[in-house]
Amino acid sequence: MINLTLLGATGSIGQSTLSVVDLHPQTFNVFALSANTNWQQMLSLCEQYQPSFAVMTDEAAAEQLSQQLQNDTTVLSGAKALETIASHADTDQVMAAIVGAAGMASSLAAAKAGKRIMLANKESLVLAGDIFMQAVKDNNAELIPVDSEHSAIFQCLQGGTSGLNKIQLTASGGPFLHTPLSELTNITPDQACAHPNWSMGRKISVDSATMMNKGLEVIEAHYLFNLPAEKIDLVMHPQSIIHSSVYFDDGSTLSQMGNPDMRTVISYAMSYPQRIASGVEALDLTQNSPLEFYAPDFNKFSCLRLAFEALKQGGSAMGTINAANEVAVASFLDEKIKFLDIAKIIEKTLEDSSHFYPTCLSEVIENDQTARLIASKLTQSYV
Ligand SMILES: NC(=O)c1ccc[n+]([C@@H]2O[C@H](COP(=O)([O-])OP(=O)(O)OC[C@H]3O[C@@H](n4cnc5c(N)ncnc54)[C@H](OP(=O)(O)O)[C@@H]3O)[C@@H](O)[C@H]2O)c1
Repeated sequence: MINLTLLGATGSIGQSTLSVVDLHPQTFNVFALSANTNWQQMLSLCEQYQPSFAVMTDEAAAEQLSQQLQNDTTVLSGAKALETIASHADTDQVMAAIVGAAGMASSLAAAKAGKRIMLANKESLVLAGDIFMQAVKDNNAELIPVDSEHSAIFQCLQGGTSGLNKIQLTASGGPFLHTPLSELTNITPDQACAHPNWSMGRKISVDSATMMNKGLEVIEAHYLFNLPAEKIDLVMHPQSIIHSSVYFDDGSTLSQMGNPDMRTVISYAMSYPQRIASGVEALDLTQNSPLEFYAPDFNKFSCLRLAFEALKQGGSAMGTINAANEVAVASFLDEKIKFLDIAKIIEKTLEDSSHFYPTCLSEVIENDQTARLIASKLTQSYV
């Protein structure tokens, strides 16, 4: 039995992970689960999966869960408890699927404990890529991407990197691929969250609409595959059938295809190097043609340009744009700022922040907090 710790169990990736577990009850045991505030959903998950540990980072939610839970699951609370279950001696695999910077410390704890980390929380790499990759290396941890593009590249590189020319991430373009810039001013949160192909949490859905998600993925790819920005290309592909491609010097291009469903990516990370059933139907190319491809529009999607700028600056710049984005997206979802203000707040936060090279997690966290303060102040001026 493989003992699984699932961080972010009540989220979109968390739920898809559990649906893969349901298909393979003889292989995977749900050892620990975590959520933030949603104790009601956690209660039903604990009743169904009987994990050894359930962590609620929110203390009041942990209290509620403890009162209601009638089984042997140990309920823990607070952010430190995430690190406890991520690094627990009985944990074999850690699905790191907390949204945002809040997921960074527990991913790092899993890396330091030498676990298999199935990394959905791209923020761990965006904020602390150098520190995180070093921890993976030093502790012989196993890092498997849980992002459709990075999983595709990981799969295409199973034959090695000899003659690798560049990688190309595909981007669906989200709900506004063909919407002119002039019509993006009064976009509502519900419109921004209506992704045409993928069903995801609200924060990442807005990131897809602004294309900041793709920008963060470029940074994620830089660390995962150890490539400079110049070797990371983008192509818009609205059908999300080709998940990404790898180009070689001999003129060959390898791509990975499939229906857009994260269960394929998740099951691959859980079973690698084997493949197991995920519940996703096989692709029928006759139902998906024509496949379309376009060059990205860096003018309309200025978040994409900002992410490349931050990657080229390196160091704290990547954490700065991530923090500013989280603040701005939360304000947009609360209907306090407009859709196009998100990129403006990120750009100004980057300009107003000092730039340095963090050497430890506390410097990463300090930069994250400073950038959040700057972005929050800026947000006030757009309300
Ligand atoms: N969804 C996708 O298809 C997809 C694809 C690729 C990568 N990703 C990445 O995977 C991660 C998760 O995305 P998602 O769409 O699954 O997010 P989501 O649906 O919003 O779920 C987020 C999970 O994190 C928990 N959480 C939220 N804030 C937290 C905090 N401060 N401390 C601890 N836990 C917290 C939530 O608990 P509560 O329910 O209690 O709030 C929930 O379990 C993100 O980094 C995203 O970029 C997602």
